[in-house]
Amino acid sequence: MDKSEFGLIGLGVMGRNLLLNVADKGFTVSGFDLDESQIRALKVEKTDSQRIEAHSDTKTFLDSLASPRKIMLLVPAGAIVDSVIDSLVPHLNEGDLIIDGGNSHFIDTERREAMLSEKGILFLGTGVSGGAQGARKGPSIMPGGSKQAYELIAPLFEAISATYNEKPCVAYVGRGGAGNYVKMVHNGIEYAMMQSIAEVYGVFKAYGHSNAKIKSAFEGYQNGRLSSFLISITTKILETKDPQGKGELVDVILDKAKQKGTGKWTSQNAMDLGIAIPSIDMAVSQRALSALKDLRLQLSKRVESTKKPNDWTFKDLETLGEQTLFSAFIAAYSQGLHQIYEASKAYDYGIDLVAVIKLWRGGCIIQSELLNTISESFTNETLQHLFESESMKNELLEAFEGLRTFTISALSHRLAVATLSSSLSYFDTLHNGRLPLNLVQAQRDYFGSHTFERIDQPGVFHHDWPQ
Ligand code: 6PG
Repeated sequence: MDKSEFGLIGLGVMGRNLLLNVADKGFTVSGFDLDESQIRALKVEKTDSQRIEAHSDTKTFLDSLASPRKIMLLVPAGAIVDSVIDSLVPHLNEGDLIIDGGNSHFIDTERREAMLSEKGILFLGTGVSGGAQGARKGPSIMPGGSKQAYELIAPLFEAISATYNEKPCVAYVGRGGAGNYVKMVHNGIEYAMMQSIAEVYGVFKAYGHSNAKIKSAFEGYQNGRLSSFLISITTKILETKDPQGKGELVDVILDKAKQKGTGKWTSQNAMDLGIAIPSIDMAVSQRALSALKDLRLQLSKRVESTKKPNDWTFKDLETLGEQTLFSAFIAAYSQGLHQIYEASKAYDYGIDLVAVIKLWRGGCIIQSELLNTISESFTNETLQHLFESESMKNELLEAFEGLRTFTISALSHRLAVATLSSSLSYFDTLHNGRLPLNLVQAQRDYFGSHTFERIDQPGVFHHDWPQ
């Protein structure tokens, strides 16, 4: 049999689905897993026309691959990636390519790329988004590393990725750890969008609206400018019945959201770079607060139960909810894109922001029609930050006033809308030419002689403040 054009290590659900997708596109492929049950599952799922080999022995797997070998890893991020790479390296030749498709930390990717490049082995840290369905039907792919490495795999990635307007949702993202960096921020944006949707749903619930009614509002959103993967899955979640017969499933799900860590990394790195991404930070914090279920239940007894916010009709709420989510999505995208823009400069990644926005338009969790509008703004205008857009200016100003009305009302009735309020404050802060931070600077100078600048003359000043 001819040698395989592509190898994949890690035949869990994601790996199997991606391998089947590659085979569907006519490539010959080899899969590897030490777990025989995963190999059996692959053999059951493959069709007769797909040219797929499955191996549990490293040598036969590597011998089955055409040179230069192209090997993708879909294994859990962390130490396992290092141990798989270590097991491959002694058998690889110069010019072979390893692609890490997991949610690895970008710093680990840079370390691995440097180690492998000394041996002449190419490496791409590659973000893959879209979950198991995306892997099977077309994910969004964010490869980073050397351009030479990308060229080797570009035709295959373009064949298997999702498409938007017939354009593949993959592009070379940038040097070093850029692929994993962009995927990390994608996940931070994902956290903020999910939390914003949940907060709007929470306000609808506080009004006593049924899941069916809330679903009807979200269906309307899906037919308009909020059309996105996350809104679409929300409508499906809201109509799903509990298989145990206790009404709708969403109502019996415990209100504690877990996290694997990519949102937290996004916030940690933004802090390191001095970039403000408050909606993403708050979405991460809300997951941590959600975990404090016992404390929340105990403290909730100290305050009056939340009253219905006011006498808005369902239609009022639906309209304000739409403006609120539009603003929240804009805030999440703006913060993430701003972070990528600044990180690309700080780390010399050479990231093309428009290419990133475009590849997010299909396949990934944060895909939305709004990203198409945003990509047009970044293409046609010279922007450092989305809020500078002239073409979106009026739409943004109007939507954020809707967010203000919605949030004020929810806050005054003690509803938990922390991520929405963070988005509003982010907008207000950036639209404020004079912040009270002059006082902070005076305080720093008072107790630490840290000096200050003046508004009326250049230079650095210190004052001998009264003690
Ligand atoms: C994707 C997702 C995927 C995963 C998240 C979940 O793009 O396909 O982002 O990578 O579902 O990492 O993250 P949490 O477990 O942290 O919510």
